[in-house]
Amino acid sequence: MLLSSATHEKIRNEIPHFPHPRGALLFALHQARDEVGQLNREVYAEVGSLFGMRAGEVAEVASFYSLFMLPPAKAVIQVCTNLPCCLRGARGMVEMLEHRLGIQAGTTSPDGRFAIAEVECLGSCGSAPVVQVNRNPYLEFVTPEYLQEIVGSPEAALDARHPAPIISIIPDGVDGYLLPPNGAKWPALDDYRAHGGYQAVVKAGAMTPKEIAGLVKDAGLRGRGGAGFVTGLKWTFMPPKDDRPRYLAINADESEPGTFKDRQIMERNPHLMIEGIMIASMAVEANAAFIYIRGEYVDAYATVRSAIEQAYQAGILGENALGFGRRFDMHIQPGAGAYICGEESGMLESMEGKKGQPRKRPPFPAQKGLWGQPTTVDNAETVSHVPAILMRGADWFKAEGVEKAAGHTLFGVSGHVKNPGVFELKLGVNLRDLIYKYAGGLEEGRTVKAVVPGGVSMPVLRGDQIDIAMDHESVRKVNTLLGTAGVIVMDDRTCMVRAALVIARFFEHESCGQCTQCREGTGWIYRILGRIERGEGRLEDLDQIKATSDFMEGKCICALSDAAAWAGSNFLRQFRSEFEAHINQHRCPLPESFSI
Ligand SMILES: Cc1cc2nc3c(=O)[nH]c(=O)nc-3n(C[C@H](O)[C@H](O)[C@H](O)COP(=O)(O)O)c2cc1C
Ligand code: SF4
Ligand code: FES
Repeated sequence: MLLSSATHEKIRNEIPHFPHPRGALLFALHQARDEVGQLNREVYAEVGSLFGMRAGEVAEVASFYSLFMLPPAKAVIQVCTNLPCCLRGARGMVEMLEHRLGIQAGTTSPDGRFAIAEVECLGSCGSAPVVQVNRNPYLEFVTPEYLQEIVGSPEAALDARHPAPIISIIPDGVDGYLLPPNGAKWPALDDYRAHGGYQAVVKAGAMTPKEIAGLVKDAGLRGRGGAGFVTGLKWTFMPPKDDRPRYLAINADESEPGTFKDRQIMERNPHLMIEGIMIASMAVEANAAFIYIRGEYVDAYATVRSAIEQAYQAGILGENALGFGRRFDMHIQPGAGAYICGEESGMLESMEGKKGQPRKRPPFPAQKGLWGQPTTVDNAETVSHVPAILMRGADWFKAEGVEKAAGHTLFGVSGHVKNPGVFELKLGVNLRDLIYKYAGGLEEGRTVKAVVPGGVSMPVLRGDQIDIAMDHESVRKVNTLLGTAGVIVMDDRTCMVRAALVIARFFEHESCGQCTQCREGTGWIYRILGRIERGEGRLEDLDQIKATSDFMEGKCICALSDAAAWAGSNFLRQFRSEFEAHINQHRCPLPESFSI
């Protein structure tokens, strides 16, 4: 046996939390990798024996996930090289590590002590640059000097802790209800209860499911996971209650570059999310809720898991939950480094212990979701708004935002700003204020050249378009979308071809490969942008980007293909002359731009 009996026991204890044992498969693979360093056929066979699976079946699942495929080493130094981290010097970190350790990124040192891996967005863009050693807590706001210091030995790298300041705040004058005030953390049940926690769910207990959904619909809450669908309306899509189990699946995958808000709730106010999940579950009459959290978020995972355990001990969850006379269960599942597992049906597949490949719809999750049962999917932030709506009412919530965009949201601001972070503000805040008033503006003498307004899936804006309100309807006037409200700011030195190239690399890496248009199209856009960026492009390439985007848009199983198409074609639409300059001058005309 390669795995210890303690690991076997941990895995066995996890399995009963799920209707089907495979719900614990990703958890098991994490435990195995943490123990033996590299997954191989023997490990797959041993893990498989606990799930009634053949080694090959386990290997097929594991190979889908980046975290299980990292290079083997005692200390694997993972450097995020997605856009917000690159804008703040991530390439310098990789180069320093390569020089210091004498190995290339993506490889392991001959003695097996170190490996360097360039990884996609770690969901902490506001504290860029970000590094993770194995599955340890993130090292945030790192500098080359700091990294230089900790890579003296694998032990030092594994022991390294670089606690970051709290970057999520409720700005002065805002009556926050999502984040605890003054940088506080409320991981303990007593903290949350001392601030009025778990009263909203008691109130909901006196309402019918229809009344709860009606209230949340009247309040105008829209999903915060990217699409902005009306939450209360979505809850009514569940079929009439019958004797089948029904589930709520909470999406805390948070892997879209520029998006780093759900983690702030989970680490600072986990019981708020749990209470919101309970109320949402009452509305959709779910028997159990499962939270899917990205595998790299080790602190958030531990905090939420402990909060759930506290809730069980206090009788808030479990048999006769809160004294309402019925059983209600909640459990958390780790992802393993795949952006596509944030897409709701990819997430459901992954939660079932499979490759996270999106499903064809119909049937939609409300008809046939987790383990084939009626399921509602909500984002982690979305449900966290619900307790306040129950306590303060729909009219109050509506007044906290603007028409068709009610309530606060957690705006993330990253990139070239002095004070990147997460700001709890009313929807409809002005984008210029968000950048200059809340995020501290840009370095002296610099101006805004471009802004991605809601995660890299959303069409980019030019610097002269930032006098807009940040709500779902207003941003449409400038041909973009609010997405996850994760704003990436780029200053006047930034090369737009390079920015588009990093984003294209991301989509090419994350396409699950099921649809030809997406699998091939993301690769074409990445390669075309690459040659333009290197000064080897041709003017016909610009038409080819547009044609490839048209070939990809609206034709695939999920919206990743559309997002990848929009990203490429919108950078070109907004900054065409800069693309042409690269081609005509056979080089990048912006020598001071960030490196990738
Ligand atoms: C490629 C892709 C990635 C996504 N990633 C996430 C994610 O990380 N978190 C999330 O909540 N929604 C994500 N979504 C949106 C989900 O599919 C879904 O709309 C959302 O979880 C629903 O919750 P909401 O209505 O509360 O927003 C993603 C969608 C796509 C197409
Ligand atoms: S659009 Fe892309 S990511 Fe989505 S299912 Fe098709 S290949 Fe996979
Ligand atoms: S954490 Fe690096 S880009 Fe998001």
